[in-house]
Amino acid sequence: MNKNYYITTPIYYPSAKPHMGHAYSSIIADFFARLKRIQGFNVYFLTGTDEHGQKIQRAAEEKKMDPLLFCDEISKTFRDLSDTLNLSNNDFIRTTESRHAKSVENLWNILEEKGEIYLSKYSGWYSVSDEAFYTESEIEDLDGTKKSITSGSKVEWVEEESYFFRLSNWQDKLIEFYNKNPDFILPETRKNEVISFVKSGLKDLSVSRKSFNWGIKVPSNKDHVIYVWLDALTNYLSALNYPNESDELYKSFWPADLHLIGKDILRFHAIYWPAFLLAADIRPPKRVFGHGWILSGDEKMSKSKGNILDPLEIIGNYGLDPLRYYLIKEVSFGNDGNISQEKLESCINSDLANNYGNLCQRVLAFCDKNSNFEVPDNNIFTDDDKLILDEYSKHYDNLIKYSDNQDVNLYINFIVEQLFAANKYFNDQEPWKKKKDKLRMNTIIYVALELIRKVTILLYPIIPGSSLKVLEIFGIKEGNINFETIKDNNYLKKGHKLGKLDILFKKIEKND
Ligand code: ME8
Ligand code: MG
Repeated sequence: MNKNYYITTPIYYPSAKPHMGHAYSSIIADFFARLKRIQGFNVYFLTGTDEHGQKIQRAAEEKKMDPLLFCDEISKTFRDLSDTLNLSNNDFIRTTESRHAKSVENLWNILEEKGEIYLSKYSGWYSVSDEAFYTESEIEDLDGTKKSITSGSKVEWVEEESYFFRLSNWQDKLIEFYNKNPDFILPETRKNEVISFVKSGLKDLSVSRKSFNWGIKVPSNKDHVIYVWLDALTNYLSALNYPNESDELYKSFWPADLHLIGKDILRFHAIYWPAFLLAADIRPPKRVFGHGWILSGDEKMSKSKGNILDPLEIIGNYGLDPLRYYLIKEVSFGNDGNISQEKLESCINSDLANNYGNLCQRVLAFCDKNSNFEVPDNNIFTDDDKLILDEYSKHYDNLIKYSDNQDVNLYINFIVEQLFAANKYFNDQEPWKKKKDKLRMNTIIYVALELIRKVTILLYPIIPGSSLKVLEIFGIKEGNINFETIKDNNYLKKGHKLGKLDILFKKIEKND
């Protein structure tokens, strides 16, 4: 079984500082990266910034800055955000790096040599904001301004000499590829949209621009820069040292297991990207998952709409793990989701402070008073004990399936159920009334500690910082977390001195 796992986020445009939408994609990707790691996979997790093209060139011009210096500055805010979000990424790629240019030029040369690219002339609509070409049927006239129907961004007329990629040749082969790989595009509804778009007919794609110069030059014709999407998509290869196909990274991690993206850029990842790769005889990635949007009101949150929520501000007010938990739990994964301060606060109070935090605190406080702050010896488990402990082994295969199918909601629902169940168990068993039957009391403590350990392992990919503090009391360190041990009901060793635990989540007082 292949135990390598390559997961990527989109590389973001450093045209303005990151917002909650970017944080969302990155946090979800980090969740999967950590989840697969504790399941024993050798994970490579990539994120970065997409720095070429007209959008960035114009943004730099507006600030009267050299485009590279402009990118240096903003790319750094994305890199800093990766740290702030506690992302476990292995690399951060910038498309202005030379390792990347080398890889893009190589891919271009292969496509050109294979006759997949030809020189002609483009005339049509272009959205600089989306860096996308649109046909007449994909735009609408709104108060005298022509806009893309899907993204709402302004389009402008472009007429220039351009290289084209023979996308039309790949229509049937793409359909065949989707049929052979039914899980290539998820969720299912998105896959259907993509397939019907491809079936409606693909036209050749303009893959170079001549009217500006901020990009990677076409190797055989320096008057042209390579279309920013052909440039950007290739980042997934360049980070693995492509074109050096004998490189360990490339050999281990290509094809990618999961490109996690927003639904706004599905066409690029699910159509253009596999077409470029198939045309160059490179294996396409295994999966593209297009998640929904974080909305602001009922609009997509985006810098061009100016309706953004700053993740740094939320983290400053509430802390990182509450934000991570909230985004992973409350946005139904795959769909759009609205986020609000009020919902965030009630999620912190009910799930984190009352449910999880309270479970940890009350059990540990009880250990402090009654078991000398040690893991006590346990007697034979009763049916009640077994029932709740065995939930984890019973659902183990499902949890693995959820991880592999990106069923985030099912995964976290299981956790929430188990948190309720564990609190209820401790209440119902009333260990404080069992002081005369020491063995039974100790067994209840033992079971409660095992439940905390198990559920915390499941929580680790979601709230790594807080989970590590809890695992620490059992002497479990980050590198030693093993998902499989949730099946073990006797993991904790008798006599192990428990560590102290500070309050994990403060309840938020509502003044109403
Ligand atoms: O498209 N809700 O970069 P970009 C959820 N450079 N996710 C959101 C979001 C929102 N409101 N807004 C942004 C680009 N995102 C290209 C990508 S990849 C080879 C090149 C997230 O800065 C989501 O993942 O516009 C979306 O797909 C991505 O940021 C777009 O970021
Ligand atoms: Mg965008």
